[in-house]
Amino acid sequence: MFGLRRHFLLDPSVTFLNQGSFGATPRPVFCAYQRWQRELERQPVEFLRRRFTALMLAARQSLADYLGTDVDNLVYTTNVTESLNIVAHSLSLGPGDEVLSTDHEYGALDRTWRFLAKERGYAYINQPIPVPHRNPAYFVEWAQVDPCERAGLQHTAGCGEVGRGVGRVVTNERLKSHLHASYENIRF
Ligand SMILES: Cc1ncc(COP(=O)(O)O)c(C=O)c1O
Repeated sequence: MFGLRRHFLLDPSVTFLNQGSFGATPRPVFCAYQRWQRELERQPVEFLRRRFTALMLAARQSLADYLGTDVDNLVYTTNVTESLNIVAHSLSLGPGDEVLSTDHEYGALDRTWRFLAKERGYAYINQPIPVPHRNPAYFVEWAQVDPCERAGLQHTAGCGEVGRGVGRVVTNERLKSHLHASYENIRF
């Protein structure tokens, strides 16, 4: 597909579709992290005690330049689950609020929302979305029916997977305007 296979170390006889839970690493990324691991192994203490902070800052700076933001707006986390937990825990939600997700949500985040709903007293709705979804219009309709209409907040990782994106939290109004603008442009 688009000649992308050659950029990965994947078994050529396999059609690999899961880039969410255990994604394959592109060759240049694989080579770079192997190089850094070797570098660390040469002098672990020197690397971790003396060089690590400056190296991580340089890496953040490079990412900040790419994203067009300030380096201090960025923080590295271990993975998506940790990042979304930081966001979910930081939201001031409580009784009267609702978080809407779908049954396409992956287990760890489903548990996070359930756990926080119990702890903070908001409602958590895990809405089934039948697959295969029939067409974009169906998804737009789905997003507008209750309880979405009532939802103060929508966590759309599950929707994101249907709409080919990566999960993040958006407000109800924002999601709706995205959906109306164009299905193709949805980037959750
Ligand atoms: C199915 C699935 N598993 C796992 C993850 C996240 O994995 P990790 O937190 O290790 O990056 C995602 C992220 O969206 C996912 O969709």
